[in-house]
Amino acid sequence: MGPEEMEAVGQVFEGRWLGIGHVTERFEEALRAYLGAPFVIATTSGTAALHLALMELGLEPGDEVIVPSMTFVATIQMIQAAGATPVFCDVEVDTLNMDPGHASSLVSAKTRALLPVHYGGYSCDMDRILELAGRQGLHVIEDAAHAFGSRWKGRSVGTLGELTCFSFDPIKNITCGEGGAVATANEAYARSLILRRNLGIKSDSWYQMEWARSWNYEIVSEGYRYAMPNLNAAIGLAQLARAETMRERKQQVIRRYDKAFGQLDQVRLISKNLEDSFPFSYVIRVLDGRRDSLLRHLRQLGIGATVQFTPNHLQPQFAGFGSYLPVTESLYREIITLPLFAEITDHQVEEVISAVVECLARS
Ligand SMILES: Cc1ncc(COP(=O)(O)O)c(C=O)c1O
Repeated sequence: MGPEEMEAVGQVFEGRWLGIGHVTERFEEALRAYLGAPFVIATTSGTAALHLALMELGLEPGDEVIVPSMTFVATIQMIQAAGATPVFCDVEVDTLNMDPGHASSLVSAKTRALLPVHYGGYSCDMDRILELAGRQGLHVIEDAAHAFGSRWKGRSVGTLGELTCFSFDPIKNITCGEGGAVATANEAYARSLILRRNLGIKSDSWYQMEWARSWNYEIVSEGYRYAMPNLNAAIGLAQLARAETMRERKQQVIRRYDKAFGQLDQVRLISKNLEDSFPFSYVIRVLDGRRDSLLRHLRQLGIGATVQFTPNHLQPQFAGFGSYLPVTESLYREIITLPLFAEITDHQVEEVISAVVECLARS
C-alpha cells in the first residue's frame, strides 16, 4: 500500500459516494480486461464470492461438492452455507493442488460439483479437472483466492471453469482492503450474481447500480449484502496498476529462495510453473520431522513463518465427515510458509535463507 492507494481513496472521499458505484464499475471493467473474462462481479470478500458462486448451482441438501481439505476454512463453510455437503479430497504431494485421480474416486450419484483450489497461486491441472467434470456431468467452481493473475497453459485463471472466485483481502496478490470477485463467461450466471449480491433488488438496466436507485424497487430473488463499495474498488484499481511489478518481484524472490533451498537435503520444493503464475505464497516441505523446530526458530528471530493450512477434515467442526487423506495429513506435518511479499528487501530475503539454512544444518 502506498501513496497511489491513498490518493485513490481520497478521490472517493471527495466524490462523497463511498458505497457501490462508478468506481466499482470501473474496477470490474479493469478486471474483465486484465483477466480476459466476459463478466466479473465484484464482491465484499472472497468468501462472499464463493457463497454467491455456489448459490448459482441451486444446491440442495444431500448434494455433494468435492473439495480439497487443504484450503482456508472459507471454502468449506461456503459449501455448507449454500446448502451442500463438502466431500474432502486429497492433494498431489508435489503441488498441494487437488488430486484429480482421488477426486474421481469420490464421485457419487450425489456429487454436483468439483471445487479446486489453486493453492499458493499455482493453477490446478485444469485439463484433468475439466475432463473429469465433463465426463461425470459436474459443475466446476474454482477457488482462485490465491491465483489472481495466474494462468494455466497460457489461459488466464478466471476463463477456465464455469465460475471462478477471487479474493482481494489484505494479504492477497492485489488487495482492496477487503474484497473479492466472481468471473464467468455465462451471462445468465452474471445477471443472477448481480441480483444476489445486492439483496435481490432488481435494477432496470444491466449496469444500473445502487447509486441510481429509485424510491420504488422490486425484489426478484434471494440475496445478500455482498456488493463491493467504491472505497474498496478504488484501492483495487490502484493495486491493479502495479500488479505486474508486484508479480515480477515475487517471482524474483522465489527464484532466489528455490536456488538456496533446492540444495538442502531435508527440503523439498513445491513444483510450479513460475512463469505462468502470480505467486501468492512461498511454501517448502521440511522432511525428517524438522518442520516444527524450524518454525519455532524462525519465529524466535521475528521471521513471520506459518503453516497454511490446518486441513479442514481434522477440524472439530468437520470431524463428522470422517475422511482419511494420507497425502494431506503427511504434508500438514511438513509444510512451512516463508515470507513472500512484493516489498520484501533483498536483505530480508537473505536473512530468511540464512535462518533456514542455519537451523537445518544443526544435527
Ligand atoms: C483459499 C482461500 N479461499 C477463500 C478465501 C476467502 O477470501 P476472503 O478472505 O476474501 O473472504 C481465502 C482467504 O484467505 C483463501 O485463502
